[in-house]
This record gives sequence, C-alpha cells and structure tokens, in this order.
Amino acid sequence: MSTSFRINGQQAEVDVPGETPLLWVIRDDIGFTGTKYGCGIGLCGACTVHVNGRAVRACITPLSSIAGTEVTTIEGLSQNGEHPLVQAWVETQTPQCGYCQPGQIMQAAAMLKDFPNPTDEQIDHVMSGNLCRCMAYIRIREAIKLAAGRMRADAREENPGADHA
Ligand code: FES
Ligand code: FES
Repeated sequence: MSTSFRINGQQAEVDVPGETPLLWVIRDDIGFTGTKYGCGIGLCGACTVHVNGRAVRACITPLSSIAGTEVTTIEGLSQNGEHPLVQAWVETQTPQCGYCQPGQIMQAAAMLKDFPNPTDEQIDHVMSGNLCRCMAYIRIREAIKLAAGRMRADAREENPGADHA
C-alpha cells in the first residue's frame, strides 16, 4: 500500500510497508541522507526531523503514522545554508565529527518555536536527548543562543509593532 506525504515542500508517495521507520524511507526511498542513524531506538536524537513542525525521532516513527503530513529534514530546513541556526553552527565551529549535528539542529529549530529566547536551562533540558559523542554541548548551546538572537532581531524588523519575547 502506498503512503503519501509532503517532504521538504515536495509531494512524495512511497510503496513500502507502513511499519517501515520513517528514517529509512527518508534515506533509502527518497534519498535525503542528511538524517542520520544512531541508536535506532529513539534514544540519541541523530534521526530528528520535523513532522508538521514538531521534532520527532524518525527511527521509531512508522511510515503509516505520517500519511498526509509535512515532513522536514535538515535539507529542507536550510536549502541554501541560509537558516540562522546553520549559519551559527558554522560560525561557532560547533561540529566536531558532525554526525549528530543534523539532529541537533532540527531539535533546536523546533525548540526555538516554543522558546524564542531560551535560557541555558531550557536549552539543556530540551537538547538533553540529543547525544553528541564528541561532547560539543557547550558550542551547541552557544550556537543556539546566537541564532535565537538573530531570529528575534529579524522578527522585530519584519514586525516592529509586535511584542517579541
Ligand atoms: S537513531 Fe533515532 S533516536 Fe537514535
Ligand atoms: S559532533 Fe561528533 S557526535 Fe556530535
């Protein structure tokens, strides 16, 4: 049975069993390989993508559960590398080996919708499920704060009358 959904702004239809993890559909059937496999059991965050704007772990998300939704991967978040989080990641030289970083950025992007001006504690709490074997946690926090500040400034510029957090 085929399953339809949108991914990175494009319509997709795949004909694989509904219990197939979204991670493998994204990587093997659709070909977006920025989303990584780490633990495969929902514990490391390497496979984090957005489904309808919320962070989910693609390794434990069955394809059947995302029918009709909008999926965004790291490729769709920042098609030209222009997203403030991606820019901040580069400027702060956050990645070491880089393997965990697509998942870190996708988790951070979802977090900034809820916490546009996050405290260290909020960052540590929300990001605590995204593991980094290279221990880049301090730089991840720094990059998130840099990007968050720029995103708030951009929002003020676009809508000067609004009350921005
Ligand atoms: S690979 Fe999905 S949470 Fe680790
Ligand atoms: S940068 Fe190597 S695992 Fe995070």
